[in-house]
Amino acid sequence: MTAIVEFDALGAESIRGALGADAAVLPGLLALNAHLDVNPFEDCVVLGSSVDQQDVFALAQDMRVRRPSLGVVMIRRRIDTAILADALRAGVREVVQERDLAGLAAAVRRQREIASRLRESVEPIEGGATAPQRGRVITVFSAKGGCGKTTLSTNFASAIADSGKGSVVIVDLDLAFGDVAIALQLFPTHTIADAVHLGTELDSKALLGLLTSHRSGLQALVAPMDPSGAETISTTLIVHIIDLLRQEFDYVVIDTPPALDDHVLAAFDRSNVVALLATLDIPALKNLKLTLETLDLISYPHDRLKIVLNRSDSKVGLALSEVEKTLKAPIVAQIPSSRDVPASTNRGVAIVSDDPKNPVSLAIRKFLDDYVFVANGDAIPTQMRSDRRTSLRRKK
Ligand SMILES: Nc1ncnc2c1ncn2[C@@H]1O[C@H](COP(=O)(O)OP(=O)(O)OP(=O)(O)O)[C@@H](O)[C@H]1O
Ligand SMILES: [Mg+2]
Repeated sequence: MTAIVEFDALGAESIRGALGADAAVLPGLLALNAHLDVNPFEDCVVLGSSVDQQDVFALAQDMRVRRPSLGVVMIRRRIDTAILADALRAGVREVVQERDLAGLAAAVRRQREIASRLRESVEPIEGGATAPQRGRVITVFSAKGGCGKTTLSTNFASAIADSGKGSVVIVDLDLAFGDVAIALQLFPTHTIADAVHLGTELDSKALLGLLTSHRSGLQALVAPMDPSGAETISTTLIVHIIDLLRQEFDYVVIDTPPALDDHVLAAFDRSNVVALLATLDIPALKNLKLTLETLDLISYPHDRLKIVLNRSDSKVGLALSEVEKTLKAPIVAQIPSSRDVPASTNRGVAIVSDDPKNPVSLAIRKFLDDYVFVANGDAIPTQMRSDRRTSLRRKK
C-alpha cells in the first residue's frame, strides 16, 4: 500500500496518522529497498523531511526504471522552485510541505490511483506479454447483518458457474463469522488463514491450492474455521489475494461481514460492481444510507454501486419511491422473499441451481445480466482515500 521512511519518530507517526494504519514505517532506505523487493504491490513511498534530498533523488531515479508504477512522494520543510525542478528531473512525483498532512494524503491517493492504472494497463507477465484482461470483481455488502449477503453472493457465484460464461471463485471476507462453506456444504481442507502462513510465497499457484471446489463448478476461498484467525489477515494480503484471483478467474464474487472495515474497503477498491443490500426495515435502510454517505466522503465512484432490495415483497408499509427519495439513489433490483431460499441453503445448493425458475432465481439472474455480464467497459477500479476511511459498527 504505502511505505514511509522518516527518521524522526514523531514525524513518522504523524505521516502514518495521515495515511492510515496499513502504511508501513521503515527504518531506512536499505529496509525500504528490501520491503519493495518482497512487496510487488506496493504503490507509493513517502520520504520524510529527515531523509537526505540526494538520497531521495537517487531512489526516484532508480525506481523510474526499475519500477515505473511506484509513486515517490517527498516531504520537505521548505519548498522552492529549485527543489521542485530538481525533484521533477529525478522522477519524484510529488513534493509536499511538512505540515500539509491533508495535501500529503491527497498526493498519496493520486499516486496509488496512477499506480493502479499503470499496473492494469502495462503490467508484464512471464514471457514478456502484457497482462490478460482481468476478471470482474463483484462484492456484496450490507452494513446490517442478516440482510442476505451470503445468500446473494453464493447465488451469484452459482449462477455464474451455471451460466457457463466463465470461471468463478467466491471469497468469504466475513473472516470471523463467515458461512459460505456452510451455505454451500463445503468441506474445506484449507482456508484464507493459510495464506498468512505462506506470506511472500503466496503466488497464484499457492493460492489455487487453498481453494475448495463446489459441485456447481465454482471454487471457494473460505473463511478461517476459528474466528481468531481473522486478526492475522492484513488488508495488504486481502488486496494481494483479490489481485491474484482476478488474474486466474473470470469472476470473483466477494461475501462480506456486516461492517465497513478496512478489508471490505479494500475489496470495494478492487470491485467492478458493489451490490449494496438492504431489506425493507428502518435499521437496514438507515445503515444503507450511512454506508452511502461514508462512500461519498471517500469519493467512491457511484456508478459501481448497485442497490439491491432483498425480500422486496415484504408488506411493511414502506413505499419504494419514498425509500429511493431518502437514499437519494435508485434501487436497481428487487429480490422477493421465498421459503425455498433457506430450504435450498439447508441442502447446500443455491436456489438459482436448485430451482432456476423460482422468482428469486429469475431476479438474481436478471441482476447478473444487467450489471455483471456486460461488456467490460466500466472504469478501472481506483484506490480510495485511506485518510478518510471510516469503520461502521458491526450491527445485527
Ligand atoms: N430472498 C429471501 N427469501 C427468504 N429467505 C431469505 C432470503 N434472503 C435471505 N434469506 C434468509 O435470511 C437469512 C439471512 O441470510 P444470510 O445469511 O444470507 O444473510 P447475511 O447478510 O449473510 O447475514 P450475516 O450478516 O449474518 O452474514 C438466511 O436464513 C437466509 O436463508
Ligand atoms: Mg453472511
